Amino acid sequence: MTREGKEEALRILNEQQLAYCVANSELHVGTKQAVPGDGNIDADILFIGEAPGQKEDEQGVPFVGAAGKLLAELLASIGLKREDIFIANVIKHRPPKNRDPLPEEIAVYAPWLQGQIDIIDPKIIITLGRFSMDFVLGPGFSISKIHGQPKRKRGRVVVPLYHPAAALYSGNLRPVLFADFAKIPKIIEVVTKEREKEQTPVEAQQHLL
Ligand code: URA
Repeated sequence: MTREGKEEALRILNEQQLAYCVANSELHVGTKQAVPGDGNIDADILFIGEAPGQKEDEQGVPFVGAAGKLLAELLASIGLKREDIFIANVIKHRPPKNRDPLPEEIAVYAPWLQGQIDIIDPKIIITLGRFSMDFVLGPGFSISKIHGQPKRKRGRVVVPLYHPAAALYSGNLRPVLFADFAKIPKIIEVVTKEREKEQTPVEAQQHLL
């Protein structure tokens, strides 16, 4: 899909899913706005968090509070900027007092995130925390066991990581999160090489024409 096509598809998705979520969940009550996502819609890497917090609710942008500051540091540690990636959350409205999202809320908001994944079509999905890990990989995984280990799912590489907020609460997770981030450049390199290989026969054919 072209960039313009993606922009239009995301605009329609956001409009439709906002209406659907407001009609089918109470989560929006007391919030300032929805926080659909932010970043480069043509990015190869999609980060998925959990849900907006207070700062995100105020600004309508994901990861702008304390966890967002740490995420920016983590991205900088591997030479990435927010403009290089897209960031979304499983849940688009701030849960009261930042409580965990309920299974029924995740179910209502699921088509919104799934639509974003389908339209942005990233090569690599990096999940932050267990809610986005469960969303992308399905239930049954333990983040303490599989963090930092890339998995293949529906033609994409999925990298489950701890949520930056977890590292803010528990200082000993901070070096673990930085060490897991340090694995990302190699994963990008492998995925890029694979794609180049896939494209070679097509290009070779074009040269023959
Ligand atoms: N935590 C999240 O999971 N998402 C945000 O947008 C902010 C904090």
